[in-house]
Amino acid sequence: TGKFTYDPGFTSTASCDSALTYIDGDEGVLLHRGYPIGQLAEHSSFMEVSYLLLNGELPSADELAQFSRTITRHTMVHEQLSVFYRGFRRDAHPMAIMCGVVGALSAFYHDSTDISDPEQRKISAHRLIAKMPTIAAMAYKYSVGQPFVYPRNDLSYTGNFLRMTFAVPAEEYEVNPIVERALDRIFILHADHEQNASTSTVRLAGSSGANPFACIAAGIACLWGPAHGGANEAALNMLKEIGTPDRIPHYIARAKDKNDPFRLMGFGHRVYKNYDPRATVMQQTVREVFASLKVTDPLFETALQLEEIALNDPYFIDKKLFPNVDFYSGIILSAIGFPTAMFTALFALARTVGWVAQWNEMISDPGQKIGRPRQLYTGPAQRDYVPVDKR
Ligand code: CMC
Repeated sequence: TGKFTYDPGFTSTASCDSALTYIDGDEGVLLHRGYPIGQLAEHSSFMEVSYLLLNGELPSADELAQFSRTITRHTMVHEQLSVFYRGFRRDAHPMAIMCGVVGALSAFYHDSTDISDPEQRKISAHRLIAKMPTIAAMAYKYSVGQPFVYPRNDLSYTGNFLRMTFAVPAEEYEVNPIVERALDRIFILHADHEQNASTSTVRLAGSSGANPFACIAAGIACLWGPAHGGANEAALNMLKEIGTPDRIPHYIARAKDKNDPFRLMGFGHRVYKNYDPRATVMQQTVREVFASLKVTDPLFETALQLEEIALNDPYFIDKKLFPNVDFYSGIILSAIGFPTAMFTALFALARTVGWVAQWNEMISDPGQKIGRPRQLYTGPAQRDYVPVDKR
């Protein structure tokens, strides 16, 4: 009709103002509240980055300690929620469980429906950040048939998550500080990424005034897809399928073939037309983890060679396709001991801070309106109903 700007896939539409995250896709720059992701990954912690995203500034030592205590206080989930897990098939995908369980939290926190109260919004944000590790670890425990492990509040956010995931009764479990640091860094790298599909989903769901736990469940659903967060699982499965470096050319040829739906998973990005700065840190973290744990994985060699071949191929050069955050993350997560099915659940855990910070920013905006895109109608013009015996 010419009345609306047509922008399927939102390639050129800004949907909101936001002061959280800045991306320059051509230069490969990612800043959270102004701080470069490389600096945060190297020097900060996931708790500190969470505080930064929620509050706008880096915390003082006291503020960080207080924030960590608050998050720690909320790590338990209602005991009744463990019953909810038992309704899922044992082989349910962890993301299916995450969607269901996080959605179900909306039934546990009736106070969270008053989203006009900034204090209530803050508590909902803290509850979500605190409970995601517990919920994700429980999804894992359920899938392997082991009893749930309760949170331990003397451990760090990430250390506690590792213990809830990997500790088994009657055996001592010591959190490995190298693994803890690597996983914490992976959480930092996934914490926020401006108006990506799942964050936009959370904002859209939240724009109607819906319950925040239900909005985050909507974000989890969106993240699950292989074009988005599901890419970390898909990327490692692809590397396993490729196996040895001699098979790379075959898969490169498939990725370039327009008649083959195959894509290089963990490659390409809507915004980055340069190296994803998160992939740089991720690749370096693989090396550090392997060196400190004295382990190796032949798939890392395959991944490095795949990257090199792709980056020298005119198809990938012309289309500006580079490795993204998900290309190397699976190799570290595997080395730590997570099954591939858990990878996207870990992404959801970390992105929860971005989702709640963006949701809160939106609700706090006095000019906030319900998100309501228009369309270009392509169906039939008005016509008269025909009774069934006349069709
Ligand atoms: N392998 C082969 N070709 C590709 C790839 C790829 N991974 N990605 C894009 N292309 C081609 C695509 O076929 C298209 O070619 P043409 O212009 O000839 O039709 C061109 O590059 C542009 O692709 P697009 O799909 O129009 O670009 P988009 O911005 O809509 O999609 C993307 C971005 C991330 C969905 C896409 O690059 C992709 O599917 N990548 C693989 C999945 C992936 O790794 N996703 C994780 C993204 S980063 C983390 C996250 O968001 O969760």
